[in-house]
Amino acid sequence: MREEFLDPAVGADPREPDEEQVEAGLRPRALDEFVGQRELKEHLEIVLEAARRRGQAVDHLLFAGPPGLGKTTLAGIVATEMEVHLHVTSGPALERAGDLAAILTKLEDGDVLFIDEIHRLSRAVEEILYPAMEDFQIDIVVGKGPAASSIRLTLPRFTLVGATTRTGMITGPLRDRFGLVARLEYYDDEELRAIVERAAGILDVHVDTDGAWEIARRSRGTPRIANRLLRRVRDYAEVRADGAIDAGVAHDGLALFGVDDSGLDKVDRAVLSALCEQFGGGPVGLSTLAISVGEQPETVEDVYEPFLITQGFIARTPRGRVAMPAAYHHLGLAAPTRGAAAPGLFD
Ligand SMILES: Nc1ncnc2c1ncn2[C@@H]1O[C@H](COP(=O)(O)OP(=O)(O)OP(=O)(O)O)[C@@H](O)[C@H]1O
Ligand SMILES: [Mg+2]
Repeated sequence: MREEFLDPAVGADPREPDEEQVEAGLRPRALDEFVGQRELKEHLEIVLEAARRRGQAVDHLLFAGPPGLGKTTLAGIVATEMEVHLHVTSGPALERAGDLAAILTKLEDGDVLFIDEIHRLSRAVEEILYPAMEDFQIDIVVGKGPAASSIRLTLPRFTLVGATTRTGMITGPLRDRFGLVARLEYYDDEELRAIVERAAGILDVHVDTDGAWEIARRSRGTPRIANRLLRRVRDYAEVRADGAIDAGVAHDGLALFGVDDSGLDKVDRAVLSALCEQFGGGPVGLSTLAISVGEQPETVEDVYEPFLITQGFIARTPRGRVAMPAAYHHLGLAAPTRGAAAPGLFD
């Protein structure tokens, strides 16, 4: 069993059992409430407004970026802003072509179809999606064997919103069929503070500016983590303090739950120490590294690594992952002398 199931503190993935519900409650519904991602929001505003003026469905949209940055939230916002229904499914859930056909034929004019993890669609399903996206048509096979025939159905004009944590895994033909491909960026501390304050308002927790700041700067640029840390600190504040969150309470609460000053949790630190100590700084392959910290390679790659890379703790090289001097520093270890520090980077 993964440790995060036992320790509700800091696991980035999988989520706490009730997390999806809590998340739904904290999700901004209108574009105005969505904090940050200025450029993306501006593009989206224009695309939505143009569609509204033309009285047409919004162009197909693809949101890409690391987990917890707001892709699902944005899909919901598009539907709310356009006052249409939102239909939700995901790449792995659509096993056969028929699964997708069943959903497509239920759509109404202008509706949003949200396909999460769209990079995990099967080939067969993806092929149905092409004509559906482009010409709003699908071919359905009726009957079996020699008597089978195919009929062409015209679909209402819908908007496909795809989300992916792996842009690189989206096939060219699929990617090209989106009218807007938007990449979500990590949030800065100021934006995360606003997100913490907004969530605190909804959860009815008192948090002052410094308290919100303490939480924000340990949130790894990620709203989902900011909200999660806020809930842990709220628990701590209720049990060990008077329920209000200031800088001291936030600091002590987060320390208790194993989130350090840089926002790294136990798994992050395990990755760094495996790299620095067990593998002598690397380079080491992703799956070897993942096994040594007891995680799936995809989890390490999607959830842990991106932040460690943006913070300059580790680097990806063609020969594997390497530890950067900041990693040694963070663990309180002496970094190896120059030249030995990052083999693979220069050779
Ligand atoms: N810009 C934002 N402003 C305020 N809250 C946000 C914002 N973006 C995300 N959140 C909060 O973070 C949580 C996670 O966002 P969301 O589920 O949309 O992420 P995601 O990109 O779909 O993640 P995943 O890739 O894991 O599906 C939401 O519940 C929402 O409350
Ligand atoms: Mg999502």
